[in-house]
Amino acid sequence: MVDLKVKVLGVNFRNPIIIASGPGGFGDELRKHLDFSKIGGFITKTVTLNPKEGNAPPRIVDTHGGILNSVGLQNPGIEKFVENIIPQLKDLDTNIFVSIGGDSPEEFKTVAQIIDNFQFIKGIELNLSCPNVSKGGLLFSKDPTLLNHIVSLVTNVTNKPIIAKLTPEVTDITEFAKVAIEGGADGISLINCPQGLRIDINTGLPYLRRGIGGLSGPAIKPIALAKIYQVRDKFPDIPIIGVGGVMTYEDILEFAMAGANLVAIGTGIMINPKLPEEVLPKLMEFLESKGINRYEEIVGIAHKGGLG
Ligand SMILES: Cc1cc2nc3c(=O)[nH]c(=O)nc-3n(C[C@H](O)[C@H](O)[C@H](O)COP(=O)(O)O)c2cc1C
Repeated sequence: MVDLKVKVLGVNFRNPIIIASGPGGFGDELRKHLDFSKIGGFITKTVTLNPKEGNAPPRIVDTHGGILNSVGLQNPGIEKFVENIIPQLKDLDTNIFVSIGGDSPEEFKTVAQIIDNFQFIKGIELNLSCPNVSKGGLLFSKDPTLLNHIVSLVTNVTNKPIIAKLTPEVTDITEFAKVAIEGGADGISLINCPQGLRIDINTGLPYLRRGIGGLSGPAIKPIALAKIYQVRDKFPDIPIIGVGGVMTYEDILEFAMAGANLVAIGTGIMINPKLPEEVLPKLMEFLESKGINRYEEIVGIAHKGGLG
């Protein structure tokens, strides 16, 4: 039997497969289709201090190899999250991580302080890279001073592991990973959606009401792999959550080999909500066929001479 367990961020994961922030919402719909006790973890949709209605529709449009979305951080706000969503999350038999966002650094701090009260929550992912909001959003992971400020503010108010989720839209991702690590981040999530646009040629207007959206799905997989590879190269020990276009067990292997300790699935569960459990037997079969006993042996192997 191949051992898929992962120990990272001070947390034991039964396997490396987790759900990316957003497409799985807060788990209420997904739990009808997916057995959470089969997966390593779940990252909630981003929660902010105040409720957000999100952007006006249309908010999603297809494109080759993926989708463009412009949801705009729709969420009920932290108060309702605590009241209505926390009790449901508690029932999910997997590691729960909460993604938080905000219009300002102080908002991140306040939301993190509240999340800190809930012991069952294993960690906090900072959404520093949302392409679909007018305040903050992408700016937070493109401005090193702001990035450092937010990460330090949050790490000062909680002992939970903090994961900084970064945009790929910078010249040198390792510079931003460095800033986040220096600010106190325990791990890095790579990548959030790069920006994209589609135009309806019959109207001459963007398909999405907000115009530009965030691109996700297989189209961004090579970008995610490149960013993970670069960060793993510079920081051999930093925990990395790889995310971007994972649809198959082969994708998971590529992410792991590039350097991802955990691999998150987003758009993939919108197409097949059972995907995270369906890939597991094939993943084990592959590792077994290569004589590899533990999944953790292949993490970052592309930097260590490959499978040999
Ligand atoms: C519909 C949708 C909503 C998303 N919402 C969030 C969000 O609330 N917070 C966040 O950090 N990322 C969000 N993302 C980004 C994903 O977590 C992920 O980084 C990105 O989609 C790339 O992974 P994928 O190709 O597997 O979807 C969202 C993505 C999609 C498609």
